[in-house]
Amino acid sequence: MIIAQISDTHIFLPSDNNEQRISEKRIQNLKECVKGIKSLKTTPDLILHTGDVTHNGTIEEYKIVHNILGDLKIPIFYTPGNRDNRKNLYKIFNQKCNLDLKSNFHIYLVELSNLNLISMDTHCRDSNKGELSYERLTIFSNLLKKSKNIPTAVFMHHPPFNVSKSSSVNIEFETEDRVFEFIDILKNHKPLIGLFCGHIHRNFEIEIGNFNAYTMPPIALDLSWEKHNRQNSNRPQYLIHTYSKNSGFKTERKLV
Ligand SMILES: [Fe+2]
Repeated sequence: MIIAQISDTHIFLPSDNNEQRISEKRIQNLKECVKGIKSLKTTPDLILHTGDVTHNGTIEEYKIVHNILGDLKIPIFYTPGNRDNRKNLYKIFNQKCNLDLKSNFHIYLVELSNLNLISMDTHCRDSNKGELSYERLTIFSNLLKKSKNIPTAVFMHHPPFNVSKSSSVNIEFETEDRVFEFIDILKNHKPLIGLFCGHIHRNFEIEIGNFNAYTMPPIALDLSWEKHNRQNSNRPQYLIHTYSKNSGFKTERKLV
């Protein structure tokens, strides 16, 4: 099973000449990324988008992303970021993902041949930080129970761990207590093979219990926090997560 992860495309429609150049550049970045994925020797089985698909959450913006990613002709699964609009995202990217819209949250299970994926919705309407309510944790736990004894990877926009590189703590959530509860739920699931996130616009990797968690830079390069790295600053990145029963789980960072 090969999963290509992309994140933080932040596609938007410009309102003036100044924005025109940035908008075109972000579209170009996404197209380059699609070209890179298409040139791989082995085509990934699916694309995971870990949120901030668009910058303003409009249907028109989602249509642009959908048309560009559609060129890959492989299934696309997404999880909403702080800039996304759940309803519009659902209208454009609806997949066979058992998404229960009555719950309002985009928390769903994707059952693949030898691996399950679960989207955890951390979108918060009033904040750029993530939210994990009791209701969301309950829905998520129930899906994880369904996935018992099956290798499972979780994807979500906000990373539920400290992403600070200094001695200060930075957890990008409104309610830290719920984050610790969530991590306990993950640690209790065996085998959990990976946690894939976006949001912080840079590479970060951490071991939590028996699994590794990853963040990645944005496809929208103008928003990258990795500008200090000159060599990589003008090249979009995507992640390739590979899982097989015999070789286990492996993640590679790919520069376009
Ligand atoms: Fe973002």
